[in-house]
Parts: sequence; C-alpha cells; structure tokens
Amino acid sequence: MNSAHTIGIIGGGQLARMLYEASIGLDLEIKLLAEGPEVSAARVVHEVTVGDYTDPQVVTDFAAGIDVLTFDHEHVPTSLLTKLEAAGLSVRPGPAALVHAQDKALMRARLAGELGLPAPRWRVCRDAEALRALGEEIGWPLIAKESRGGYDGHGVWKIEGAEQCEEPFAQSLEESAGEKVEIVGEEFVDFARELSVIVARNPHGECVSYPVSETVQEHGICVETTTPAPGLDPARAAQIQRLGRRIAAELGVVGLLAVELMERRDGEVVVNELAMRPHNTGHWSIDGAVTSQFENHLRAVAGLPLGDPSARQPWCTMRNVLGGSRDDLTAELATVGRDGGLKVQFYGKSIRPGRKVGHVTTYGDDLADVQGRARAAAAYLMGLAG
Ligand SMILES: Nc1ncnc2c1ncn2[C@@H]1O[C@H](COP(=O)(O)OP(=O)(O)O)[C@@H](O)[C@H]1O
Ligand SMILES: [Mg+2]
Repeated sequence: MNSAHTIGIIGGGQLARMLYEASIGLDLEIKLLAEGPEVSAARVVHEVTVGDYTDPQVVTDFAAGIDVLTFDHEHVPTSLLTKLEAAGLSVRPGPAALVHAQDKALMRARLAGELGLPAPRWRVCRDAEALRALGEEIGWPLIAKESRGGYDGHGVWKIEGAEQCEEPFAQSLEESAGEKVEIVGEEFVDFARELSVIVARNPHGECVSYPVSETVQEHGICVETTTPAPGLDPARAAQIQRLGRRIAAELGVVGLLAVELMERRDGEVVVNELAMRPHNTGHWSIDGAVTSQFENHLRAVAGLPLGDPSARQPWCTMRNVLGGSRDDLTAELATVGRDGGLKVQFYGKSIRPGRKVGHVTTYGDDLADVQGRARAAAAYLMGLAG
C-alpha cells in the first residue's frame, strides 16, 4: 500500500489546526495554505503559505510541494480542483465527490433524485415566483438555501409565506468563488432533533462509521452534540451508519464524510447536507473515540488503514464555546480546569461575539451529569454564568 507523506491543507481554520495536532503522532508532514498569518491553524503549523485559495496560480504553486491535497473548508472552486487532479495531483476528497458538499442542489439531485435516499421535498427555484409556487404546492413554511457558499446558517432562510419569497433572491450572491449560486427551496422539516453520522473512507475502499450523534444547532450554528444520540433505537442507528457508508461509497469520497440528518417526529430520518472534512459534530471524537475524526481523515487521505471509531465511554457531550464577554479564554483555565474530566480545545482565535472560539468535552456513564458539566463550562467561558 503506497502512502503519502506530505499533506497540503487548504484553509487555516480550527479544523486544520486540529488536523495538525493529529498529524504529529503519525509523523505526517503538513503544509498549510492559509488566508492570513494569524488565522487559527497558521499560529501552530510551521510550514505556512499565505495566499488566496481561489487564485489558480497560488494553489498550483502550493500543490507543487505536496503529495496529497485536502481541505479545512469546501470553498475552493471545483473547476480549479478538477484541473489539478487532471494534472496528476491527488486531491482527496476529489472534486467529483466534493462537489456534493459544495453544491446543495447537486447533492439533492444525486442523493434524493438518483439514489432515492430520504430527503425533504425540494426544488431548485429560479425566482420568487417559483419559490411561491413550491410553497403553495407543499405548504408553508419553506426553507430556502443558497446552493453554494453557505456555512453556519449563512445562506439559509425560513420563509413563512408568499410575501417573504423575494428575500433570498434579493440577498443571495449570484456567484460563490466563481461558481453559480442557485436557490434551493425545501420543505420545512418540523424535526424532533438533528443527528449526524461521520464516516471515514480511504482510497482502497475501506470505510468505518462513528456512532451517531445528536446535534443541536442554534441560529444555524452547531452548539452541542451528544454521542451516541440518546434514545436512538440501535437498529435505526445501524441503518444511519450504513446510509453514511453507502453515500461515501456511491460518491467515491476519500477522507471524512459527515452526513447531517433531521429526525422527523415519527422517527424517519432525512438527509440535510454533507460535509467532506472534519466536522463540528465529530469534535467529541478527539478524546471520546479510540481514533479521532482528525486522525482518521489524515489516515484516509494518506492512504493508510483506518483507526477504530468506537466510543471509549458510554456518553460524550461536546459544547461549542462562542465568543462572549470574556476576552482571554486561557486565563479561565484555572476555573474550568477544576473539573478534571473536562477537556478543552481553544482555537487561538480573537474573540468576536458569536464566533466559534473553542469547545469543551465531557465523558462518563451518567448522561445528565455529562451534559450538565459541558453546558456549565461552556456557559462560563462565554461569560454567561459564574
Ligand atoms: N429543510 C429544512 N427544514 C428545517 N430546518 C432546516 C432545513 N434545512 C436546514 N434547516 C436548519 O438550518 C440549519 C442550517 O442548514 P444547512 O443546510 O445545514 O446549512 P449550513 O451549510 O449553514 O450548515 C440546519 O442545521 C437546520 O437546523
Ligand atoms: Mg449544516
């Protein structure tokens, strides 16, 4: 089995920072193409190029010094990745797979249309009139989404009625990193909760699934996960893990695939969207699983055998720390550190209100205790309590 030694990562956010941490024990070399010298990962990685990931020359020069290209985000233009792959570079995940995480319209067409996998009712809408027609057909409210470029709830609108249908078209960009943006209209799923499953797949087709997580999004941002999802029927959990592996195999994903899901009140699960990189809902795995999502992403893209994704403890809760009123999180370690079972990851970012600046994780066999401790610590770090 040939494996790759030098991994190039595009994007210098916290995901790249945590990938770097995982690379050390594997002795893989990481090169980073970062947006600036002070972004989260650029503060720790020692081989950093600062440049614009939408500039073909910048990315081509960066690619010259690496064995494999992978990502911290999905915003690199698909057409640029296709050219690099055609020129012989290992792009993992490759653009033919990655496009389903970049473009929600294509993702719906492939998963719901071609593969017949469960999804909300949906349609690409050319204009406000088409969105209105969809609402009249399937009922209000609707969800409208930009097909490309969205994240953390940016580019997602809840449309309560016909009078709000202009809004997404007025606000949406026509292009994102040179690719056309469309508006996808979707049935509003009145979900009981959101779930996610993360799978890792290597270029030899080996594929493993993490336990299914329950995830909580507020204002479009993931704020909490609990793994395994409490109360989820084991047969349903196994079915969701199989769904994740099937999507990874059908799309030819190499690396991690996160499948965001919505659980309807009758227990049926529909796919929301895909990500092909480490995912916020997998952060629990750093200490909560035998092999973290970050290590498995690196193993997968390097062509190595995958690590065991099993949980180490019965329950694990991850709570995101969003920027609040405290301006120096490390100074607060003396306080949160009193809970010796609490694990902290700070991202080295400047604090801005609502910005993801870190996360905390707790583990144990008492669900209420595990969730309570994570919530209390995150609230304290956000300046909301204590
Ligand atoms: N069809 C839908 N019905 C109900 N809620 C939805 C729907 N689609 C998205 N959402 C809500 O909006 C959040 C963000 O949407 P998503 O497509 O995942 O965008 P992003 O790329 O910002 O993560 C979801 O996590 C979910 O809470
Ligand atoms: Mg999402």
